[in-house]
Amino acid sequence: MFINFWYAAEWSHNLTDTPKRVRMLGHDFVLFRDSQGKAHALSDTCIHRGASLAGGQVRGDSVQCPYHGWRFGGDGRCTRIPSLGPGNYDKAPARGRVDSYPVEERYGLIHVFLGDLPEAERPPIMAIPEYGTAGWRPTTMDYAWESNYERNIENGLDPAHNEFVHPTHGYAGERDDYAVKEPAITGDDWGARFMLTFQSPPLKNPVMRMIRNYDGDLEAGTGHVGPNNMYTYIHLTPTRWIHQYIFETPIDEQHTKIFLVCMRNTLLPKWVDKVINKRNLAIAEQDRVVIERLKPVKTPPVRTRELLMPADRMIGLYRDKLDEWEAKGWRIDTATLASATAAGDRVFAIPSPGRREHKAWVLESVPLKAGADADTPRLRAAS
Ligand code: FES
Ligand SMILES: [Fe+2]
Repeated sequence: MFINFWYAAEWSHNLTDTPKRVRMLGHDFVLFRDSQGKAHALSDTCIHRGASLAGGQVRGDSVQCPYHGWRFGGDGRCTRIPSLGPGNYDKAPARGRVDSYPVEERYGLIHVFLGDLPEAERPPIMAIPEYGTAGWRPTTMDYAWESNYERNIENGLDPAHNEFVHPTHGYAGERDDYAVKEPAITGDDWGARFMLTFQSPPLKNPVMRMIRNYDGDLEAGTGHVGPNNMYTYIHLTPTRWIHQYIFETPIDEQHTKIFLVCMRNTLLPKWVDKVINKRNLAIAEQDRVVIERLKPVKTPPVRTRELLMPADRMIGLYRDKLDEWEAKGWRIDTATLASATAAGDRVFAIPSPGRREHKAWVLESVPLKAGADADTPRLRAAS
């Protein structure tokens, strides 16, 4: 799992006037809206004596801890300590702050930047160019898998599994002439993508058959943005397209929350939403039963512990990117974290941008794997 990327934390419409606890990257966060409705994300652990802020309430522009009533503003600063008495409520010491993370609401989702990079250096939020444009309609759903998010993304980037995992759009391995064609791959700083033509049987669902009822080639492709987000383009015909955007948020290394925004430019009436959602869920289930049983749960640390083929090329490129981000010192050292927390007397926080500005913090910063450049300020070890 990596710091310094954007993670979808919750649907915007699910965050109302009560604080909400969300677990991401093996840590707890509290989301809340201030008096203006602006969403904030803070580390959930109260720095006084460790209560969960999400169990408290929103008061004005702050979240109030349920234990002794300390309040924290959207910037993480402690705004009120009731035990200090009238006239002194606002006299929190310098360390009186919790980590506060940048938040952007986009595409109906609350995206939280979990890391300490300054704004100019942050990776992008995965874009949905069709969102809100004429001629396109979204449907949304979310689900949780008991799997590692990197395995999930690799499954999405894998053109060879469709034939066998998805009888809905493959031939279930029954053809003698089956082969995966060479994909045309392009890439940029934050990910790679490919488009490919697949042979696909006529669709069985009568509604889907309205848009595609022949068994010629279907064009489809996938790309990833960062370690945890991906999109799949399904071009059912040259003009009838479905573009799926999948925001994957690791709850921890073995559990993933998945938010899907599915855009379509065909069959736009609202009643079709239900058909699309049902189909998307059925396809996701076909993947889930395979992915949740992969061994090891995480991808092996060396590639020779699997036997990769040319059809796995995208997976190799994705792993190259992960290695690149690990070399920057952005990968959480989960083994060190697990042993440091095993006794139950330590808690860590994902570093926020404020840690670049203020040096003294109550919670320890999460241990990160050593990057290639030992001088980078992003490198931290658990003390
Ligand atoms: S633990 Fe939060 S106010 Fe005491
Ligand atoms: Fe799949």
